[in-house]
Amino acid sequence: MKAEVDQNSCIGCGLCESICPLVFGMQDDVAYVKVDPVPEDARESCQEAADSCPVSCIIISE
Ligand code: F3S
Repeated sequence: MKAEVDQNSCIGCGLCESICPLVFGMQDDVAYVKVDPVPEDARESCQEAADSCPVSCIIISE
């Protein structure tokens, strides 16, 4: 599993980092992905972060 953030669309709400801090971090009020691939034990929370992003700018692929 791979996660990407469309940084042009991110509004910096920080929800992804609070839901899945293993995968997402914040820099200059924009989210970024810390790890590739997504660790096995973070898959569920990573998907939840993507589903929760208010502007749907987290892209998950296998
Ligand atoms: Fe940005 Fe969405 Fe995270 S707006 S900070 S990628 S929850």
